[in-house]
Amino acid sequence: MPPRVPKAASPLPSCQCMRSQCLAQPLHKRAIDRQRPISTYGYVQAKSLVYSKHGSPQDVLDLHTHSISPPHSNLLTLRTLSSPLNPADINQIQGTYATLPPFTTTLGTPTPSAVPGNEACFQVLSAGSGAKSVQKGDWVIARQTGLGTWRTHLQVSEEKVTKVEKEGLKAVQAATVSVNPVTAYRMLRDFMELREGEWFIQNGANSGVGRAAIQLGKRWGYQCIAVVRGRPGEEGEKLKSELKELGATRVVTDEEMMGKGFKDQVKEWTNGGREDVKLALNCVGGDAAMAMAKVMSQGACMVTYGAMSRSPMRIGASMLIFKDLKFKGFWVSRWSDQHPEEKKKTVDEILDLIRRGEFKDMPMVEVPWNWDTKKEELVHAVQGTLEGFRKGKGVFVFGDT
Ligand SMILES: NC(=O)c1ccc[n+]([C@@H]2O[C@H](COP(=O)([O-])OP(=O)(O)OC[C@H]3O[C@@H](n4cnc5c(N)ncnc54)[C@H](OP(=O)(O)O)[C@@H]3O)[C@@H](O)[C@H]2O)c1
Repeated sequence: MPPRVPKAASPLPSCQCMRSQCLAQPLHKRAIDRQRPISTYGYVQAKSLVYSKHGSPQDVLDLHTHSISPPHSNLLTLRTLSSPLNPADINQIQGTYATLPPFTTTLGTPTPSAVPGNEACFQVLSAGSGAKSVQKGDWVIARQTGLGTWRTHLQVSEEKVTKVEKEGLKAVQAATVSVNPVTAYRMLRDFMELREGEWFIQNGANSGVGRAAIQLGKRWGYQCIAVVRGRPGEEGEKLKSELKELGATRVVTDEEMMGKGFKDQVKEWTNGGREDVKLALNCVGGDAAMAMAKVMSQGACMVTYGAMSRSPMRIGASMLIFKDLKFKGFWVSRWSDQHPEEKKKTVDEILDLIRRGEFKDMPMVEVPWNWDTKKEELVHAVQGTLEGFRKGKGVFVFGDT
């Protein structure tokens, strides 16, 4: 969709909002009343999901309309093309995540607010004269988490984003590369040196991270025991075949893993125990983590990156004393802050695999977000991510915004 920002710079003072003290407010108000994304003076109209207190998404999310002034210096005005609904985004809304965006008055909401969402693909609508790394029409993704991506448009300085070559990519692919695939990649590479043919085990294997780990592991010659939540009847068998096709060596349900013969089963798979299960990736916690620990080899490492069951892990002393297992954690946000260059390389490598058709998208449920989309539809989609088995990761796909 061609950008619709007029080139002429606005004579009005720079403003992001509908604040009562803003001199440009009458103009903004008229623009907003017309319900068009771009005003005559280059002010972009935007809609943002916002929350002013923590709680369940359906109770605290609101849809706020505001305007964005034309960019100056190295500022970029971005239009969001796609943004996923990741578990961490929900936890931030609930107020249970390790980092919580501050509530501010930047958008002119009646009470200070934050915009949820941490990952997205944007198109550059317009760039200030000082912006050097990107130009109008380019696609960019966030360098770090915390931008607040569940909104139609935003304005940021250029160092906050990095350009993505869009050829051969869909916006949803660029929007979902930075968190899940990067997490899987780093956990497989940075904790234990796995040689070809060696094993790793992971629970939550049907998650975005899990599916990425299966594919990367297969690519690097690792064998994977993928543990999933069981589903009734055909659904369960279908999921198992799907993950095997993706590259998992074995797929079991968590009930099967916690059942009696599992240790012997793994011994059989690993050539009588002569092949090591050196690494475990833990998305779930609780018993599903400890059952993995029981089949790990001496000196192996469990990397915890999620806690989907919300249950704590009870590590038996023998696992530490006799098996010398290592229990570590990984957080992609911290890793990305500490290794910006390595992060870019990892993202670029995965995007290349996607372009070559060698890395499959996780299943996604697209949630259309057009200019007239009602708040209730958006909030319903967010709330839905908390319920039961889902067909795929929810992803906002922006239309005529
Ligand atoms: N530490 C990091 O840097 C990092 C990075 C990315 C993600 N994460 C975390 O990793 C986890 C997965 O994230 P994602 O984006 O990959 O997830 P996702 O694609 O949205 O999938 C969520 C997964 O969690 C599973 N699940 C949901 N409730 C569960 C429960 N009560 N018990 C066991 N499994 C449950 C689902 O199982 P079904 O397939 O059976 O529905 C699904 O596979 C989240 O906790 C997320 O916060 C952490």
